[in-house]
Amino acid sequence: MKSNKSLIFILGALGGLLYGYDNGVISGALLFIHDDIPLNSFTEGLVVASMLVGAIIGSGGSGPLSDKIGRRRLVLIIAIIYIVGSLLLALAPNMPVLVMGRLIIGLAVGGSMATVPVYLSEMAPTEYRGSLGSLNQLMITIGILAAYLVNYAFADIEGWRWMLGLAIVPSIILLVGIAFMPESPRWLLEHRSEKAARDVMKITFNNDEEINTEIKEMKEIAAISESTWSILKSPWLRPTLIIGCIFALFQQIVGINAIIFYAPTIFSKAGLGEATSILGTVGIGTINVLVTIVAVFIADKVDRKKLLVVGNIGMVLSLLVMAILIWTIGIESSAGIIIACLSLFIVFFGMTWGPILWVMLPEMFPMRARGAATGLATLVLNFGTLLVAQLFPVLNSALSTEWVFLIFAFIGVLAMIFVIRYLPETRGRSLEEIEYDLREKTTGVDPAKI
Ligand code: BGC
Repeated sequence: MKSNKSLIFILGALGGLLYGYDNGVISGALLFIHDDIPLNSFTEGLVVASMLVGAIIGSGGSGPLSDKIGRRRLVLIIAIIYIVGSLLLALAPNMPVLVMGRLIIGLAVGGSMATVPVYLSEMAPTEYRGSLGSLNQLMITIGILAAYLVNYAFADIEGWRWMLGLAIVPSIILLVGIAFMPESPRWLLEHRSEKAARDVMKITFNNDEEINTEIKEMKEIAAISESTWSILKSPWLRPTLIIGCIFALFQQIVGINAIIFYAPTIFSKAGLGEATSILGTVGIGTINVLVTIVAVFIADKVDRKKLLVVGNIGMVLSLLVMAILIWTIGIESSAGIIIACLSLFIVFFGMTWGPILWVMLPEMFPMRARGAATGLATLVLNFGTLLVAQLFPVLNSALSTEWVFLIFAFIGVLAMIFVIRYLPETRGRSLEEIEYDLREKTTGVDPAKI
C-alpha cells in the first residue's frame, strides 16, 4: 500500500487511541487524585462514570451529525473537544471540574467511537476493509497500553495531572492529522459531487476499474431517496438495528473491561504485590496490542462470523478453566493460573470480538443512516461498559471471583449462539452489496425496482 494511503488510515484511526488512553488512564490516576481533591466512594464513582455517561451522549449525538456535516469535519470537532477536556482534567482544582472534564472527554470518546469506524470502513476498498477497520482496534489497544505505561511512569511522583493531561499529545496529532485528510468518498458522493468522491478514491483504491464499480453501486444506493431519519425508523432496518445494538452490548458484557479496568484488583485479590500487579497489567496491555496486530492481518482472510465463534469458544474456555482451578485450589494459590487464563482471554478477544465488532458495525448499516445507526449501537455499547464497570466491583466483593467469571462464561455462550443465529456475514462484499441484500431480504422487493 502506498505510504500516503497508509497514513490516511493510521491518522483516521487515531481517535481510537484516545478512546483507549482515556479508558485505561483513570484507574492509575484515581490512586492519587485523593491526595489533592478529596473524594468519597460516591464522588469517585462519579469521576469514573461521568466519562461513560458523556460517551453515551457523544455516541448517540455524533452519529446523525456525521451523516450531516461529514465524517472528517466531525473528527476535527472531536479533536478540539479532546484537547479542551484533557486541559480541564490536568488543571482541575476541585471535584466538579474533574467530573465536568471527564464528561467532556466522554463526549469526544463517544463521538470518535461512533465516527472513526464509519470513516475507515467507507474509505477502504472491499478486500482490505477488515484489516483497515481493525486499525481502530489496534489504536484502542495501543492507547490502553500507553495509559498503563504512563500510570506506571508517573506513579512515583503521584503525577495524576500528568496522567490525565498527557492525552493532549495524541489529541493535537489527531487535530493536525485530520486537517490534512480527505472526507469519506461515500459521504462526498451523497453530499457533494461524483468528482470529489473519485478524487479521494484515487488515493485509497487500487485502479479505475475498482473505482468505477464502487461508484456505480454507490449511485444505485444513493438513488433510493430516503432521509436518514426515515431509514432509521423504517421497519426493514429495525431487525438489523436491533441486531447491531445487541452485538455491541455483547462485546462489553462478555467481560473484557472487567479485565481492562480491574486487572490490578483481580491480581491483588490473588495475593500479588502492588508492583507485580501493575507489571501484570502492563503485560495484559502488551498482549492485547500484539494479538490485535495479528488480527489486522487475518481480518480479511477468515469469515467474520467464524472468527467471532472461535473467539467465544476461547474466551469461555479460559474463564471456565480459571473458575474451576480457583475453586479447587483456592484463589490465594491461583495467581499464575489467573494471569495465564486472563491473558488467554485477552488473546481470544483481541483477535476476534475486539476488532471485528468495530469492523462489522458500519458494514451492517445502510449508507444514509450509517453514522446514526453505528452511533446508536455504540451508545448501547457504552451502556454495557458502564454496567460492567459499575457491577464488577460489587459482584466481585459479594460473590467469590470464580462465580463472577462463570457469569461471564455463561454470557459468552449466549453471545456465540447470537452470532451463529443472527449476524450476517459481511466479508468480501462491498458496502453497497450488503445494503442491497439487506433491503431485498427485509422488504422482499428488489431495490432496483423501487
Ligand atoms: C472495546 C473496549 C475494550 C477494548 C479492549 C474494544 O474493542 O470496545 O471496550 O476496552 O476493546 O482492547
